[in-house]
Amino acid sequence: MAEPLRVILAGATGWAGSALARGIAAAPDLRLVAAVGRRHAGRRLSDVLGEPRLDCPVHASAAEALAVPADVFVEYTRPDSAKANVLAALAAGLHAVVGTSGLTDADYEEIDAVARERQRAVLACGNFAITAVLMMKFAEMAAAYLDHFEIVDYAHETKVDAPSGTARELSVRLGRVKQSRLDVPLDGVRGPREARGARLNGVQVHSVRAPGYTISVEAVFGGRGERLQIRHDAGESAEPYVGGALLAIRRVHTFSGVRRGLDTVMP
Ligand SMILES: NC(=O)c1ccc[n+]([C@@H]2O[C@H](COP(=O)([O-])OP(=O)(O)OC[C@H]3O[C@@H](n4cnc5c(N)ncnc54)[C@H](OP(=O)(O)O)[C@@H]3O)[C@@H](O)[C@H]2O)c1
Repeated sequence: MAEPLRVILAGATGWAGSALARGIAAAPDLRLVAAVGRRHAGRRLSDVLGEPRLDCPVHASAAEALAVPADVFVEYTRPDSAKANVLAALAAGLHAVVGTSGLTDADYEEIDAVARERQRAVLACGNFAITAVLMMKFAEMAAAYLDHFEIVDYAHETKVDAPSGTARELSVRLGRVKQSRLDVPLDGVRGPREARGARLNGVQVHSVRAPGYTISVEAVFGGRGERLQIRHDAGESAEPYVGGALLAIRRVHTFSGVRRGLDTVMP
């Protein structure tokens, strides 16, 4: 059998990262060689997560963790540290999988240039869950037939980034199909223009942040006398993201530059 792929996981002690770490522990073709997380820095991840198969150090920063030889860097921290971590991973010669939300299209353009120069790959997935991937595909199909569409994303009150990574990725994908039609141009809106949301990649995007919501995203399509809503609701568990993230780790070496969306590497 080939040597296991060596993975560094930034955010391994977090909600999403700890579920992924357990998934990596159970995968014979993957080996977690280092973790990143500030509060548990200096400890073994196995002790932090109570999983003996995750016997690797937790480092306070990606820069420290990247001193450990590895193949793939997984970014699962927070929007404010994600871009620097990914660039550091590319500089160290690793491919990167980005689960963290909040990076902008401009950030990805910059990362793409660096990745191509170094002949490395970055796979950015606003949502690793298969049901979310399907929602995006169905929405793309609808956008081919309908001209009026908008995106609404809902999340808990403490989510710092807006729109969500899923909503951003959806805007990129729908915008590639076509720009959504605005019968009243944004400059012609009477009242605060923000009431019509942000125009991202040619699509209006609205973010709701309030207690009681987990993470949901909705693509809303309108036709004459009819409506179509395509919605994804995440539950409370991080489990749905694990399978997709494992696939991303295994497939990221197959191209170079930035790709966005898990389905770009799905068989
Ligand atoms: N793509 C997807 O399918 C998907 C799914 C779920 C979540 N997400 C996104 O993934 C990100 C993480 O979400 P989460 O709910 O797991 O957050 P979380 O529970 O707060 O976990 C964040 C992790 O990153 C570490 N961290 C944060 N800032 C850091 C820094 N500056 N340096 C080093 N480590 C740092 C935290 O440890 P310390 O605080 O101890 O440093 C913790 O281990 C968010 O952007 C979220 O939107 C994406």
